[in-house]
Amino acid sequence: MRKDLIAGNWKMHSTHLDAIQMVQKLSYRLDPADYERVDVVVCPPFTALRSAQTVIESDHLQIDLGAQHCFYEEKGAYTGEVSPQMLSKLSVSYVIAGHSERRQIFGESDDDVNKKVKAILSEDMIPIMCCGETDEEKEQGLTEERVGSQVRLGLQGLTADQVAGIVIAYEPIWAIGTGKTASADDAGDMCTFVRNTVAEQFGEAADSVRILYGGSVKAGNIAGLMAKRDIDGALVGGAALDPDSFASIVRYWL
Ligand code: 13P
Repeated sequence: MRKDLIAGNWKMHSTHLDAIQMVQKLSYRLDPADYERVDVVVCPPFTALRSAQTVIESDHLQIDLGAQHCFYEEKGAYTGEVSPQMLSKLSVSYVIAGHSERRQIFGESDDDVNKKVKAILSEDMIPIMCCGETDEEKEQGLTEERVGSQVRLGLQGLTADQVAGIVIAYEPIWAIGTGKTASADDAGDMCTFVRNTVAEQFGEAADSVRILYGGSVKAGNIAGLMAKRDIDGALVGGAALDPDSFASIVRYWL
């Protein structure tokens, strides 16, 4: 009942010219049947969104567009920020909120993430809300405490209906860009934990939430991850920059 979702987070990679090629190459490698099975999302940098949107629309591609970040205000004196409304006008369907790099490097708090999730929903886009523990927290046995609080605070004040439509990405920070993936069992257990945490507050809406795993996902480990009951997809960093490897991840059952 939950459709698979594979999203590529390009982070700070690719000019708008690169993005056109990357989206086109990806589309050549996917068939209509793939899109029936999986929602395929690319999240280029802000400067490449318009170019990616143009390719997607002119070639009638079924790839969905995502943004990596936004501010929560609609407009105003916020130099350098981009509003959810600006993104929705570019046919952006998904926005990542609270990626660990935003939390760690740019100081985003759980309260900021919560405001962003609400602002993204108010523009009828789908938040991909990220959570995940550091290496230190994992060593100290604090993984569930950390992830549980990120999920609870991030979703605070939402209705069950709103929660049912969102996406949560569990990305252990020690696994991001390190080549160290969580084992499929550990990733699956944590995604179950995330779903249970959502269920405590929002009841059966939790059954509809799509939960992604992220952290060194590649073609070689995606099938084992997708076999887990509570993993509905992946948020892919490095391996999403190469259309061949990203397409292999999308077609994980082959
Ligand atoms: P990597 O796939 O490069 O580990 O990055 C994961 C990530 O942070 C996706 O948002």
